[in-house]
Amino acid sequence: MHTEEAVPVAVSPGPGNTVEHRSRRAVLKAFLGGGIAASLASFLYPVFRYVIPPLETNLGVDSVIAATIHELKPNSSKIFRFGNRPALLVRTAEGEYQAMAATCTHLSCTVQYRKDLQQVWCACHNGIYDLNGRNLSGPPPRPLEKYQVHVQGDDIQVIRT
Ligand code: FES
Repeated sequence: MHTEEAVPVAVSPGPGNTVEHRSRRAVLKAFLGGGIAASLASFLYPVFRYVIPPLETNLGVDSVIAATIHELKPNSSKIFRFGNRPALLVRTAEGEYQAMAATCTHLSCTVQYRKDLQQVWCACHNGIYDLNGRNLSGPPPRPLEKYQVHVQGDDIQVIRT
């Protein structure tokens, strides 16, 4: 019969307990901490931008021919370029023209006219504005910038005041 005897084993500092390995561990911990910080930042930045929307910027121009009178039927709209930003021209069901910035005051999505609601709608987070650009519901914190509309001959001129 074979019996096993306990063999004494000498305990050494081992490969994980040297000064070199401890400093490697510190570097790895620093990388891990940096990764966690970067992950937190990438998560928190969109939350921050959602809570604090960007401010308006200058358009670069004060007036533009947005359309001709033949382009829009009653209860329809057109997105046009006003300087460096999109703008919205609406012809109401009654035939009046309304113009406003098309950049949502929440997170800068482009709004659109909803002929079924006869309101301006932002698809990003279901923001609703009236035809004077006033924010009615949803997250938009401010009204859309409103523009004046002048019909000159066949042209519909939109003016920023
Ligand atoms: S971007 Fe959020 S409601 Fe328009």
